[in-house]
Amino acid sequence: SRSYNITLLPGDGIGPEVVAVAKDDDEPLSPWTTGVELRFQEKLMGGSALDATGVPLPEETLAAARDSDAVLLGAIGGYKWDNNEKHLKPETGLLQLRAGLGVFANLRPAAVLPQLVDASTLKREVAEGVDIMVVRELTGGIYFGKPRGFGTNDNEKILASTQKFIQFLRIQFYQEIDRIARVAFEVARKRRGKLCSVDKANVLEASMLWRKRVTALASEFPDIELSHMYVDNAAMQLIRNPKQFDTIVTNNIFGDILSDEASMITGSIGMLPSASVGESGPGLFEPIHGSAPDIAGKDKANPLATILSAAMLLRYGLGEENAAKRIEAAVIETLNHGFRTGDIYSPGTTLVGCKRMGEEVLKTVESQKAVA
Ligand code: NAD
Ligand code: IPM
Ligand code: MN
Repeated sequence: SRSYNITLLPGDGIGPEVVAVAKDDDEPLSPWTTGVELRFQEKLMGGSALDATGVPLPEETLAAARDSDAVLLGAIGGYKWDNNEKHLKPETGLLQLRAGLGVFANLRPAAVLPQLVDASTLKREVAEGVDIMVVRELTGGIYFGKPRGFGTNDNEKILASTQKFIQFLRIQFYQEIDRIARVAFEVARKRRGKLCSVDKANVLEASMLWRKRVTALASEFPDIELSHMYVDNAAMQLIRNPKQFDTIVTNNIFGDILSDEASMITGSIGMLPSASVGESGPGLFEPIHGSAPDIAGKDKANPLATILSAAMLLRYGLGEENAAKRIEAAVIETLNHGFRTGDIYSPGTTLVGCKRMGEEVLKTVESQKAVA
């Protein structure tokens, strides 16, 4: 069978709990799949790395991630490090990891499963059948904006620094927009052929350029129905009538916010996985949620977002479509059995903890293996 090396980054808070299902201490190989061997190598990342090594992304971790076939991350961050200086924050480590791997395209699917319609806070008729893919630019935008780090009275310095960067930015922005737009057009092509580009082109110059480039690229994809929407309207439309959306493409910060909003249509942020890929090299796969310090260590977290991220890892990171489908089918089957963590619980279902939910999915994968 085919064998792959996966860097496993449990991180902080609920991170170690939700990735626990991927680890099997007795066996070096994951019991998840048939015909595909996943060898997990665990590394430090985020707050736990800060405590152990003094930095949120140790060089050793980035090197291991680069050397592997794909990276699976739990979550990072927590109260303990919230007031750290910028370069000593767990979140900074995550941005360094994304930039270091060059994973500029972040795919965040938000689909309402029939089993979970009642977990959505929206009315059944609004939520039922929603199937959206948010394509989020991940290594640019305001997250990585320059110049930065000056005090409010440092106008001279800002001006000098800005002039230095202006040439660089002009070239950089075109490429950054074009490559994420191309990914989004391709993604839309494999879905229902509709792409909505979300921006703030009525106000932001960066968005004006964004819209111009996306519009220009549309001629390469005549089969795709392209529309544009301002981000504030998009936030409203997602709740008013989410079924109007197929694929959404947007920048780093808008994509961060809209994907959290979209998660609630599906029932819970504890359900949504993500895949981050670049031009080449290993991809990064992580749930869209954070370290949930409010429920960490209580065995309450929903591990399905992470398990579904592992499915995305198999599909987009390794090209192992069948194995990905098996994991997704096992998640559906586990929901069909009625198991629910607190975030997706509804009356008549069986409330379980994080560990038990993981075990139930594993059991289902195992029984499918036996059949196969
Ligand atoms: P969060 O996503 O951690 O939590 C928001 C809410 O959702 C909380 O009430 C939490 O209990 C709940 N929740 C999240 N994941 C859940 C799951 N799997 N099952 C059940 N409930 C779940 O966002 P936050 O509270 O704003 O941030 C907490 C920390 O996480 C911060 O330090 C933040 O920077 C970090 N963060 C990290 C990532 C990441 O690692 N990719 C993403 C977002 C936030
Ligand atoms: C996410 C998170 C991160 C982001 C933070 C923790 C840096 O919110 O993965 O959605 O904003 O990208
Ligand atoms: Mn986020």
